Amino acid sequence: MADIFEKLVKHYGPIGQHADRSYGYFMFPKLEGEIGNRMQFRNKEVIVWSLNNYLGLANHPMVRKIDADASEEFGLAYPMGARMMSGNTNYHEKLEKELATFEEKEDAILLNYGYQGIMSTIDAICGRHDIVVYDAESHACIIDGLRLHPGHRYVYKHNDVEDCEKQLQRATALVEKQGRGGILVITEGVFGMAGDQGKLKEICALKSKFEFRLLVDDAHGFGTLGERGGGVGEAQGCQADIDLYFSTFAKSMASIGAFLAGPKVIIDFIRYNIRSQIFAKSLPMPLVIGNLKRLDMLRTMPELKNKLWENAMKLQNGLKEYGFDIGNTDSVVTPIYMKGDVPEATAMVMDLRENYGIFCSIVVYPVIPKGHIIYRLIPTAAHNDEDIQRTLDAFKITKEKLDAGAYNVEAIPNMADAR
Ligand SMILES: Cc1ncc(COP(=O)(O)O)c(C=O)c1O
Repeated sequence: MADIFEKLVKHYGPIGQHADRSYGYFMFPKLEGEIGNRMQFRNKEVIVWSLNNYLGLANHPMVRKIDADASEEFGLAYPMGARMMSGNTNYHEKLEKELATFEEKEDAILLNYGYQGIMSTIDAICGRHDIVVYDAESHACIIDGLRLHPGHRYVYKHNDVEDCEKQLQRATALVEKQGRGGILVITEGVFGMAGDQGKLKEICALKSKFEFRLLVDDAHGFGTLGERGGGVGEAQGCQADIDLYFSTFAKSMASIGAFLAGPKVIIDFIRYNIRSQIFAKSLPMPLVIGNLKRLDMLRTMPELKNKLWENAMKLQNGLKEYGFDIGNTDSVVTPIYMKGDVPEATAMVMDLRENYGIFCSIVVYPVIPKGHIIYRLIPTAAHNDEDIQRTLDAFKITKEKLDAGAYNVEAIPNMADAR
């Protein structure tokens, strides 16, 4: 019999296979210093475009103060135990109420993490006769949540409403044949890689033809979209038709945790049945108090979202003027599509970091097809005009080098930290 570990040490997987040359540089890099537009990378200042610190809250003095004060008062332990058993507080309930009101829903439940929370929500609400219809480019937490779903699922082509309708027809036919079960549609509010908004308004319109409920993961829309920052439903005028609205606190709120908002009876059901919360410790108090403050700032300081969008538009318009392909983004997420293979892409990233002081993330095969590269830039309210101009200029020069074959290397440059 084989040792179960044997295969693991032979091959670290599609990403891990590059570990020897990339640890600490292309993967697991260490950004140091205060979180913001400029940070330290290997003792050099870089302009950072990799953090979902959309509103610039991560290092805002008001946020730092509330986090520190709450930590001093409560420590990280309180409250101990799961919410249901011994880990509930008035602050947890206050945050839930405020989130529900902000998202124009009857109730909300806190989740310790977004990834776990979505998975566990799918597990809690879908039974074996239920059918899930979901977007092909859904985040891993949705895909992994579906692994827990014992019933059928139908995937529709990314943001293709016609195909969504086709899958709803199949799902409806199956539900009718079974004589039981219901349908849940799941999509993202903003797709985090390409930055395109989910076609929520059109999907909601399908409710006039089909019977289904809609769950939206709005991790990237919460705080960035809509007049009040309420997210994609607010931006597209269909919040009331989103049955379950989800966001993490890990992006606009620059914190940890997540929430799900919806009808009171359903959120209450979830409260008593969501395994990731029932069998896990409650969010610690500094996070709850810190998230209350962040939500208050998100609601009352529109200048943060305005600045974010001003920066995003300058960056996106500048890239388009320079002839870059930024795809179909209609959010602040800014992808730059280029052609090249993995070694080329990493050589260009290295040049950007070492010689131009630009730190951004790249997405390559196997996440996207071979021969394609996506540079993903996340503008924030903390960036300034100089950051944007220097970045545009750096991309212009390095793209010329890429096209001229200057980054044609055999292998990923060896930039690994000693381990
Ligand atoms: C769309 C989406 N959903 C869920 C998550 C997971 O959130 P968390 O970091 O709170 O687990 C993320 C974050 O990466 C995300 O982008």
